[in-house]
Amino acid sequence: MKIQEIVDYVFEIAPNPPFGTENIFEFGDGSRDVTGIAVAWWITSEMFEDMATKGYELGLSHERVIYDMPQPEDYVWGKVIKTDELGANRRIAQLVNQHGITVHRFHSNIDLVEWGMPHALFDQLGWGDYPMDWSRGVPVVEIPPISLEQLIATIKSTLRLPFVRYDGDLKRIIRRVAVPWGGLGQWWTGVGCAAPLGFDALIGGDIIDGVVRLAREEGWAVIDAMHHATELEAMKRLAEKVQQRFPQLKVEYYENSMPWAVL
Ligand SMILES: [Fe+2]
Ligand SMILES: [Fe+2]
Repeated sequence: MKIQEIVDYVFEIAPNPPFGTENIFEFGDGSRDVTGIAVAWWITSEMFEDMATKGYELGLSHERVIYDMPQPEDYVWGKVIKTDELGANRRIAQLVNQHGITVHRFHSNIDLVEWGMPHALFDQLGWGDYPMDWSRGVPVVEIPPISLEQLIATIKSTLRLPFVRYDGDLKRIIRRVAVPWGGLGQWWTGVGCAAPLGFDALIGGDIIDGVVRLAREEGWAVIDAMHHATELEAMKRLAEKVQQRFPQLKVEYYENSMPWAVL
């Protein structure tokens, strides 16, 4: 079986949006044969090493496996290293090429499909049937009233997070939650989409300082449920779908874990 058949299937179940230029092969192409596939939210060199020992020929990753740098002339704050000079990128490229691994990224198509990131997260949290407003792209969910403290406990245990950063009064009762999932907390645009809908708390990932300060101004509680943890479930689903469609192949889901520790 050729790798292209797997890629075609994924685009069949999660169509590429018109702007989805990032959903491409990062290494190799569709012409190679495949017997084993690794699926992860973000395939790391550790995972590539494991794939090599198991003979998997294809990796499907939501996030880009190479750490892109801007062109040095486009960056005013310092002299940026070139993408292909960065040690991590060289090592990943060498690992992948040495073991003949093909990598395809599936990013915005998985974020946007009806079983993708935010939907999978809601199902994981048991919120799938609650009223939701998707009119502004970033959803707002109406949940049964719960204290911020209890909500944090639910998020921690369900998303298997060793700790959670938050801001707000733990006794506050939360009813409406905006969910700028994944990396949408890296700026305030994500939560700005949901702002006109009104909500008590926002749950997102990679939430920056400025988003917390904006939240205080607006009276929103904040829970940083982490970039990886708010996106993992959809990639797990993708692995299950690929395995079901191609039972003759070995499909392994690799789970990314919490990158931080706290003291
Ligand atoms: Fe995403
Ligand atoms: Fe992401």
